[in-house]
Amino acid sequence: MLKKILVIHGPNLNLLGKREPGVYGRTTLLQINSVLKALARKLKVKLTIRQSNVEGEIVDFIQGAKNKVDGILINPAAYTHTSVAIRDAIAASDVIVVEVHLSNIYSREEFRHKSLISPVAKGTIMGFGAKSYSLGLYAILDLIK
Ligand code: DQA
Repeated sequence: MLKKILVIHGPNLNLLGKREPGVYGRTTLLQINSVLKALARKLKVKLTIRQSNVEGEIVDFIQGAKNKVDGILINPAAYTHTSVAIRDAIAASDVIVVEVHLSNIYSREEFRHKSLISPVAKGTIMGFGAKSYSLGLYAILDLIK
């Protein structure tokens, strides 16, 4: 059986490439997604990829994943620091979650130092730019195999 992974990109990540390139780099979300898809083909995993700027929509993606996927790779973006709703959705999902960030949130402004998501994630990969996603995919596959 093919393993199924849901990738969720949070708010403003649709702007990657143009958005604060000094912090997030010049790689676009489209490019990140194609690298992930190529890797998934190579590793024989089925990927579904979603992006939303809306908190409730992200909650719906997570709720919809229960019993349907083997893992969720999520960059909750700014909601990392604010969203009890996303945290609770993950806690209720019984799905293995790996949290991903392009930047190292601990080397940035203090308000980014707290992640509400980390306590309900299996692990977090951050600070490797766009590569954080591929590393995250390897990490989650390792957890679910
Ligand atoms: C981010 C870090 C967050 O603090 C920020 O709000 C983002 C992106 C990252 O990938 O580095 O939008 O999640």
